[in-house]
Amino acid sequence: MRLRLLPLTLALGLAAWAAGPRQDQKPAEKPADQKSAQPATKAADKAPVKKEIVGSETCAGCHDEISTHFKKNPHYILETNKKRGWETKACEACHGPGSVHAETNSADDIRSPKNMKASAIDEMCLACHKNQSTHVGRLQSSHARNSVPCTSCHNMHKTGAESTAEQYKKASGINKQCATCHMDVWAAFQKPHHHKLPEGAMSCTGCHNPHAGFLAQNNRLSSGQEPGCFNCHSDKRGPFVFEHAPVRNEPCSVCHEVHGSVNPRMMKRSEVANLCLECHSNIQSPPKGAAIGGIPPAIHDMRSPRWRNCTICHQKVHGSNADRSMTR
Ligand code: HEC
Ligand code: HEC
Ligand code: HEC
Ligand code: HEC
Ligand code: HEC
Ligand code: HEC
Ligand code: HEC
Ligand code: HEC
Ligand code: HEC
Ligand code: HEC
Repeated sequence: MRLRLLPLTLALGLAAWAAGPRQDQKPAEKPADQKSAQPATKAADKAPVKKEIVGSETCAGCHDEISTHFKKNPHYILETNKKRGWETKACEACHGPGSVHAETNSADDIRSPKNMKASAIDEMCLACHKNQSTHVGRLQSSHARNSVPCTSCHNMHKTGAESTAEQYKKASGINKQCATCHMDVWAAFQKPHHHKLPEGAMSCTGCHNPHAGFLAQNNRLSSGQEPGCFNCHSDKRGPFVFEHAPVRNEPCSVCHEVHGSVNPRMMKRSEVANLCLECHSNIQSPPKGAAIGGIPPAIHDMRSPRWRNCTICHQKVHGSNADRSMTR
């Protein structure tokens, strides 16, 4: 399933990406241009006024509070740094040329993310941030193939406790944000055996890159092509002399419920034998069926509870350097 879907997902993702700029520019720019053109034509039959850059000081004249707070925004560097092309005009890096708006004061005459399509917002932000590496992974796109824009998770002009930059300093702040939409996932973390997210000891971004990207499973963080799990559980990475094939070839979630589980060790099955036998069955019909042939060998007598507790003997179930049967 996973393997067959991957190329399709990739293709769709790439297609959406390639088509993105062209599709997006039109809806994003056209309505604004039309609107700004209409009043002008109606009022005086004049040609549409060309919007020009006026500089942040002009904006500050009317948007005093936002402009003052902006000095603490990481984007303030645009205002002061000569090399980035927006010195003294940082507001317009995102909001576009403001000359018309500064005269009309109309919301229709300024590029305002509040009224923009998700994909257009992403495009605006990615103009600068694309391929930037962050500690949650490379910034390749927004979320869920650009249907959830940057601004659902990053606010720009909020300050103090209301600012997402401030909230994200704590794992609990990130989790709260993700949980607002992914309530079912958050519910899984309330099960008895879980990664310690409800306790605030780690966050969703430990395993997911919120900025989607084009990797398998879209959001999974990995170093190289490996599961992000190894960032913390490096002992499971190996390389082992005797590997357990599924640990190497399948996602960890073939055996574990990674968000949370009612079973100890976050196992998918309450009884370990049931889990192992999903792959190691080769069960023959009774009376022989009580013992499984082939893999595992027939000495394993499934009638006896002793043999059903597989990991009592196969202790190194993720891989072993000592024994092919992974018993030590
Ligand atoms: C002369 C005063 C004035 C100036 C100068 C001015 N604005 Fe505004 N701006 C306003 C007013 C009034 C509104 C509220 C419009 C409304 O709600 O209809 C507004 C609204 C906005 C909005 C929100 C639009 C929305 O969808 O609600 C943005 C964004 C904005 N201004 C950005 C800017 C930027 C950037 C500059 C500088 C290039 C600027 N403004 C300069 C008066 C001004
Ligand atoms: C990095 C991009 C960016 C820069 C730079 C920026 N803004 Fe904004 N602005 C936004 C976004 C995104 C929003 C939509 C609200 C939000 O997500 O916080 C917004 C919203 C606004 C609004 C509407 C606020 C509201 O709540 O209705 C105004 C007014 C505004 N910006 C003015 C400014 C001014 C003035 C500057 C320069 C001092 C500026 N912006 C710089 C991205 C930016
Ligand atoms: C004109 C270029 C430009 C645009 C457009 C832009 N940014 Fe930025 N952004 C920057 C710069 C420069 C910084 C400062 C940190 C850096 O150098 O990476 C920054 C910083 C940030 C940070 C904080 C990073 C940190 O290390 O703390 C976030 C989050 C962010 N931007 C999100 C956004 C979002 C969301 C948008 C769209 C609404 C946006 N940016 C649009 C240039 C831009
Ligand atoms: C689903 C929510 C979500 C969406 C959508 C999203 N982000 Fe983020 N972003 C986060 C979280 C969470 C972090 C990690 C914050 C942290 O750990 O400090 C982050 C980190 C970042 C950082 C690095 C900040 C740092 O401290 O290293 C930048 C820059 C950034 N995002 C920009 C963007 C841009 C641009 C977009 C849109 C293309 C976007 N984000 C969309 C949730 C999101
Ligand atoms: C504004 C709502 C919203 C927020 C906030 C949000 N997401 Fe999402 N997320 C979505 C939507 C919509 C999808 C696509 C539909 C789906 O698969 O559920 C999605 C998809 C995902 C997927 C991929 C699911 C798949 O099957 O490929 C992961 C993983 C994910 N989000 C993690 C996160 C994380 C981590 C955060 C917090 C940093 C977060 N989300 C915040 C709305 C949101
Ligand atoms: C310990 C690592 C880890 C943490 C922490 C984690 N996830 Fe996941 N998540 C995964 C893995 C692995 C998968 C893929 C599961 C699979 O293959 O069936 C996944 C799948 C998902 C999916 C898509 C499938 C589904 O189960 O709905 C969403 C959405 C998601 N995670 C959201 C979140 C959110 C939101 C958080 C934080 C509240 C979070 N995850 C925390 C590892 C993690
Ligand atoms: C950011 C670090 C981190 C990442 C990434 C991570 N884990 Fe964990 N994991 C932990 C910690 C810490 C514990 C111990 C939790 C506790 O206190 O019981 C743990 C415990 C576990 C346990 C044992 C739970 C128990 O009841 O003994 C399993 C199984 C597990 N993780 C699987 C995974 C899988 C699978 C992934 C990848 C999808 C993953 N982890 C990713 C940090 C992480
Ligand atoms: C073939 C099934 C299987 C796969 C695949 C698997 N595990 Fe496990 N895992 C187990 C079993 C069974 C236990 C319980 C062992 C015990 O009770 O001694 C366990 C226990 C754990 C534990 C907690 C005890 C310990 O040894 O630290 C962690 C952490 C863990 N697994 C992480 C992972 C990670 C990370 C992956 C993916 C690389 C993974 N597992 C893949 C079956 C599996
Ligand atoms: C997702 C399927 C899957 C699950 C679940 C699974 N295994 Fe395996 N296991 C395999 C495969 C595939 C091999 C490699 C068989 C081969 O090379 O012939 C293997 C090999 C083994 C081997 C022998 C190693 C060797 O090279 O001969 C042992 C022992 C083993 N598994 C024990 C277990 C135990 C114990 C469990 C339950 C905790 C378990 N397995 C769960 C798929 C699985
Ligand atoms: C009492 C200890 C014990 C228990 C319990 C046990 N095994 Fe084994 N298992 C062994 C030993 C010892 C071997 C090696 C036999 C050999 O080399 O001929 C082995 C071999 C295997 C092999 C084949 C390894 C190979 O090299 O071909 C598989 C697969 C296997 N066991 C799976 C399981 C499963 C699944 C369970 C639980 C249902 C289980 N075992 C329970 C001791 C145990």
